[in-house]
Amino acid sequence: MAAKTCNVLITGANRGLGLEMVKQMIAKPCPGRQIFAGCRNPEASKCEDLRELARKHPGEVHIVQIDTSDPRSVADCAKKVGPQLGKCGLNLLINNAGVMPHNTLKTITARDMQDNFNTNLLGPIMVTKEFLSYLQAASKACGKAGMSCKKSAVINISTLLGSMARTHETFYAFPVLAYRITKAGLNMLTVCNALEFKEDGILFVALHPGWVRTELGGQEADISPKESVEGMLRVMESLSERQNGAYLDYKGEVLPF
Ligand SMILES: NC(=O)c1ccc[n+]([C@@H]2O[C@H](COP(=O)([O-])OP(=O)(O)OC[C@H]3O[C@@H](n4cnc5c(N)ncnc54)[C@H](OP(=O)(O)O)[C@@H]3O)[C@@H](O)[C@H]2O)c1
Repeated sequence: MAAKTCNVLITGANRGLGLEMVKQMIAKPCPGRQIFAGCRNPEASKCEDLRELARKHPGEVHIVQIDTSDPRSVADCAKKVGPQLGKCGLNLLINNAGVMPHNTLKTITARDMQDNFNTNLLGPIMVTKEFLSYLQAASKACGKAGMSCKKSAVINISTLLGSMARTHETFYAFPVLAYRITKAGLNMLTVCNALEFKEDGILFVALHPGWVRTELGGQEADISPKESVEGMLRVMESLSERQNGAYLDYKGEVLPF
C-alpha cells in the first residue's frame, strides 16, 4: 500500500482477501503505520494466521473484534480503535467482510435475506458511519487538496455480481439472489457517500476483486488471493478524486453499474 497511509482498518481480515491485504500491506515497510485487522472472533482457530501476523508485527498489526452485522459490535470497535488513531485519524477503511449464501427466489427465506443484508450492506453502512469522524479527521490532518487512499478513503469490496448492467452475463452461473441485491446496494451506498462527503475530501470507491480462490469464491475461481490483492492495492494507490464514486475491478477497469 502507499507508503504514507498511516492508519488502516480492514474488516473480515482473518482469512481470504482481508488476510491477504494485511500480509501484502505489512510487506511494504511504513514507519508509524497501524493496521487494524477486524475479525468477529479473534480467539477462534480460524484467526490463527492473523494472530501470527500480529505477534510478528507488534504495534503495527492490531487485531480488533468487530462483527459487522451487529451495530453494537461496530460501535464498540470504533470506541476502542478511535483513541488509538491519534491526530492522523483513519486514512483508509476497507469494508471487506462479506458472505455469499446460495439462494434463489424459490429457496430464500426472509431470515436469509435479512442476515445477508446485515453483513453485506448494513455492515458497511454502520462501519462507515461509526468511523466517519476519524476519516474526516484524516482528511483535515492531510491539509492538501484532492483525494487519495493516503489521505482519507473508503473502499467497499463489491463484486461484478452486483452489476445490474451485466447480470444477464453472470446470472445463470451464480444465481445468489441475496448476495447480488446486497452488493448492488453497496454500489449505491458508494455513490451516495461519494456525493455526500465530497466536500470533506473523503474518497469512496466500490472495488471488484475478480473471481478469487477463497472460501467464498471456491477453488474453481480464476485467480489467487495474491494476484487479486496485488491488483487491488495497485488500483487503490492510483485513485484520486477522478474516481470518487467509481465502480472498478482489481485491474482498474471501470464496471457498469
Ligand atoms: N472470492 C471472490 O471470488 C470474490 C468475488 C467478488 C467479491 N468478493 C468479496 O470480497 C470480500 C471478501 O471475500 P473473500 O473471498 O475473502 O471471502 P472469505 O474467504 O469467505 O472471507 C470472508 C471474510 O469475511 C468475514 N465475515 C463474514 N461475515 C462477517 C461479519 N458479520 N462480521 C465480520 N466479518 C465477517 C469472515 O469472517 P469469519 O472467518 O468469521 O467467517 C472472513 O474473514 C467479500 O465482501 C466478498 O463479497 C469476493
